[in-house]
Amino acid sequence: MSEETAPYGTGPATQDGAAAIKRIRTHHLREMKQRGEKFAMLTAYEQYAAQTFDEAGIEVLLVGDSASNNVFGNETSLPVTVDELIPLARAVSRSVRRALVVADLPFGSYQASPEQAYLTAVRFMKEANAHAVKLEGGVEMAPQVRKLTEGGIPVMAHIGFTPQSEHNLGGYRVQGRGDAAKKVVEEAQAMEDAGAFAVVMEMVPGDVAADVTATVGIPTIGIGAGSQCDGQVLVWQDAFGLRTGRMPRFVRQYADLHGVLLKAAQDYAADVKAGTFPAEEHTF
Ligand code: KIV
Repeated sequence: MSEETAPYGTGPATQDGAAAIKRIRTHHLREMKQRGEKFAMLTAYEQYAAQTFDEAGIEVLLVGDSASNNVFGNETSLPVTVDELIPLARAVSRSVRRALVVADLPFGSYQASPEQAYLTAVRFMKEANAHAVKLEGGVEMAPQVRKLTEGGIPVMAHIGFTPQSEHNLGGYRVQGRGDAAKKVVEEAQAMEDAGAFAVVMEMVPGDVAADVTATVGIPTIGIGAGSQCDGQVLVWQDAFGLRTGRMPRFVRQYADLHGVLLKAAQDYAADVKAGTFPAEEHTF
C-alpha cells in the first residue's frame, strides 16, 4: 500500500504478520481538523506508559519537559536538560508503533538563536528518533520555527501560559483574558505562518481558544483551553492519578493509580513480613 493510499502512512509490519499499523503523521492531524475529528495527546516518558497509550490509540505522545517535575523530582520544568530528556524520548519512540512522538525542547536549549534551536532539535531527531519537536513562545520564536521547519524538522508550538516562562509571567496564570485575547490569536497565526504543524494552547479562556481554532489552519491542542480545540493534552500522571495533591482545574482524573500502587506495595510488604511470599510456586 502506498503512502498516498494508506490512511495513516506506512509503518512497520507487525511480527505476527498482521496488517501494518499506520504511523500518525503531522498531515493526518491537519486532515482530522478538516474533518472536524478530535484527537488525543498525552505525555509519556518511558516504555510501558508509551506502549499502553499507543495501544489505547492516543494519536500524539509528548515527551514533555514536564518530565522535570514528573520524573526527575524537580519543582518546575526549568532545570531539566537536553541530556536528561533524550534517553526518555528515545525510550518512547522505541516503544510506539502508531503514535506521533513529539519531544519538548527544554528551557535554554533553543531561545538563544534559530541555530541553537536547530542544533538541539537535530539531537532529538537523530539520537532519540523523535518525529517532531515542541517549543514554547509565540511571535518571538517565529525565526526558530522557520529555521527548524525549513531544515526538515516538524515543530509544534506552545502559546498561552508557557511554563518555562513562569517567572516572567508571574506564576501560573490564565493568559489572553480581555484585551490580551488578540495577542493569543496573533501568536497562533505567527506560528502557523512560520511553519508550525500544530499549536498547543495552555490556560487560555475557552472562547479565545475557540476563536484561534477557527482562525488558523493548523490543529490547536488545548490544555486548560476549553472544548473547542482540535485536540487535547494532559500530563498522564495528573490524568490517571499517579500524582496526588491539588490538581489544576483543567485536569479530569480517570484513575487513581497512586491508590492502586500504594495498596499493591503495602500488600507486598505485608506478605514479605508475614513470610507468605514467596510461596511454594515461586520457589525453584
Ligand atoms: O511538558 C509538558 O507536559 C507540556 C504539556 C503540558 C503541553 O508542555
